Amino acid sequence: MKTYLVTGGAGFIGSNFILYMLRKYNDVEIVNYDALTYAGNLENLAAAENDPRYVFVNADIRDSESVAGALVAHQPDYVINFAAESHVDRSIDSPGIFADTNVMGTVNMLNSCRAAWDDGKGGFGSHRYLQVSTDEVYGSLEIPHNLCADGSPRHPDRIEYFKETTPLNPHSPYSASKASADLFVKAYHDTYGFPALISRCSNNYGPYQFPEKLIPLMIHNALQHKTLPVYGDGMNVRDWLYVEDHCRAIDLIATDGRLGEVYNVGGHNERTNIYIVKTILKKIAETTGDKTIDERLIAYVTDRKGHDRRYGMAPDKIKTELGWYPKTPFEEGIIKTIDWYLDNPEWIRHVTSGIYQQYYEKMYGQD
Ligand code: NAD
Ligand code: TYD
Repeated sequence: MKTYLVTGGAGFIGSNFILYMLRKYNDVEIVNYDALTYAGNLENLAAAENDPRYVFVNADIRDSESVAGALVAHQPDYVINFAAESHVDRSIDSPGIFADTNVMGTVNMLNSCRAAWDDGKGGFGSHRYLQVSTDEVYGSLEIPHNLCADGSPRHPDRIEYFKETTPLNPHSPYSASKASADLFVKAYHDTYGFPALISRCSNNYGPYQFPEKLIPLMIHNALQHKTLPVYGDGMNVRDWLYVEDHCRAIDLIATDGRLGEVYNVGGHNERTNIYIVKTILKKIAETTGDKTIDERLIAYVTDRKGHDRRYGMAPDKIKTELGWYPKTPFEEGIIKTIDWYLDNPEWIRHVTSGIYQQYYEKMYGQD
């Protein structure tokens, strides 16, 4: 029996991870440690609510007494730190909370785990701490031209991707806070021999994603016949990772990844934003038969400040060392995702009532 303390387990990826682990293993205990910010939603975990292998602790990762209490009470073998402020636009508006939660919260998690796991002989037993980070810490890539200057086709090996060795170069307050947290994790490993490692994933999508992020926001707006706000020229590129593929990677990295190492998760699902938006419109129109849902709903709006142009992952290390590769092509994952949102109107209704409306109006104005 292995026990996992999952912080941020009521959020998008954390809740998918908890459900994945409970489905995959019988002999597992999961402690979901979450402060339930606007992004935390226990409805995501309705399927786990009565499962004796699952416990919820409503507490903050910045609160050292609560973290220490949870570590003593539940004695986790693994801590997976998902908890964070995760939305770039919010970080541009209010950077302070990103430093507080993402940096100081992580330092607090590291201190608390280090104290709880210290075996008195300079070791930490078989405990392991995984920091869930992002490809955004590497900064931004150019969109490669598919032809070289002389007109010959560019060889795929000459296209630039993020590798684990790519220098950190964050641009947004969000990515700066995640990079900073990663450096603390590395420092605790290098200084104290603390048993930590880091995963850096690309943009996730799938069920239970809060509709402030591109894909669920566009699905929600299309279903409401509201305009779909595309930043700038719509040609920014993200490398899309279906959340279940990510959960599989987290499980593998947590158990079999080498301590002190970084593992990039993602790869070869790069799409422009405008392609994503048009694909969503087409699929929703096909599925619902609603002919008024079409490209006329697209509105190009003012670009995000400091908008990173392209993220693209080279998933070679995780493939070679752990045998992981993303299984879900974007065109398959997006259909599963749209179907999930169509099948769960109540979930969308609950998360988009109240404070979501205020956020939306502040961010995008009325439409
Ligand atoms: P999310 O915003 O959906 O969920 C974050 C969760 O953390 C929420 O349940 C929230 O209540 C909780 N939380 C926030 N502050 C907390 C605190 N102080 N104490 C305890 N809990 C707190 O985020 P997500 O999209 O599920 O992302 C999870 C992790 O993955 C984050 O660390 C994020 O940086 C990283 N990540 C996400 C993506 C993505 O595409 N969503 C991509 C790369 C990396
Ligand atoms: P987002 O989902 O916020 O993820 P991230 O910024 O962490 O990559 O945004 C994904 C892309 O979609 C990004 O290039 C910004 C763009 N975008 C829009 O064009 N319109 C929107 O309303 C949102 C939320 C994002």
